Amino acid sequence: MFNILNKMNITKTIKETKEIIKRAKSKGLSTGFVPTMGALHKGHLELIRKAKNENDFVSCSIFVNPIQFNNKEDLKKYPRPIEDDIKKLEELACDLVFIPSVEEMYPEPDTTIYNFGNLEKVMEGKHRPGHFNGVAVVVKKLFDIVEPGRSYFGEKDFQQLAIIKALVKKLKMPVEIVPCPTIREKDGLAMSSRNRRLTADEREIAPVIYMALKDVSKLASGKNVKEVKDYYFQQLGKYPQMKIEYFEISNIEDLSPVEKFEKEKKSIACTAVFLGKVRLIDNVIINL
Ligand code: PAF
Repeated sequence: MFNILNKMNITKTIKETKEIIKRAKSKGLSTGFVPTMGALHKGHLELIRKAKNENDFVSCSIFVNPIQFNNKEDLKKYPRPIEDDIKKLEELACDLVFIPSVEEMYPEPDTTIYNFGNLEKVMEGKHRPGHFNGVAVVVKKLFDIVEPGRSYFGEKDFQQLAIIKALVKKLKMPVEIVPCPTIREKDGLAMSSRNRRLTADEREIAPVIYMALKDVSKLASGKNVKEVKDYYFQQLGKYPQMKIEYFEISNIEDLSPVEKFEKEKKSIACTAVFLGKVRLIDNVIINL
């Protein structure tokens, strides 16, 4: 409706983004939003599709957020195929894509410090200090700009999803967070922008991570937590190229460690694995 000749709006500034969103809202359109760091894969495109099905006006952002990277090399190597991304979004009839510069988002350093308690102390939070604070800062900024009714996040980043739900609750932001299932390649590998950095040999063995996780979710009904963890380490241990950074079994609500599987309590097995230089994360829900 705001697309001249049905073209997607491509914005670079906060001001023009806000103006377009304001016009959409003034027409009574419902608004969905998919924040991304680009290098869009099928997982992202599913989020856009879902947002398109559930909202009248859908925006997406592409911003490689420097303050959520605790590793300079990872930030430098993060893929940025911007023309390709724009084409994919146009094909899905996304209504607006916001592609700000670092200066636009951070004219001066943002010093906000959030406290998410245990949620930020375990797994990704423990191994990537400052990461979730950086995610929370940018998501809050993006929500303030786009003011979406709904925002869509993949369950592959399960801990990020928990942090964002906590952020929205803490700040009483009027946005519904919509969790979306992990999208996988045919062989089970979770879709990720980082997959494109795997060598052919690494790509071939990468599905082992999800295979082992699936076994873990089955084994949980007959074995204890230690046995299940040992199994996972043994399976990945067969591949010298794989280095497990963590493998945790946690309560699905607060991500506290699970010591015993219980029927009434869902848990989640989460892992981060270095395959060569590429860090992959994945998870599986354990529901006895
Ligand atoms: O999941 C991501 O791609 C990023 O962490 C997000 C949510 C876009 C914030 O930069």
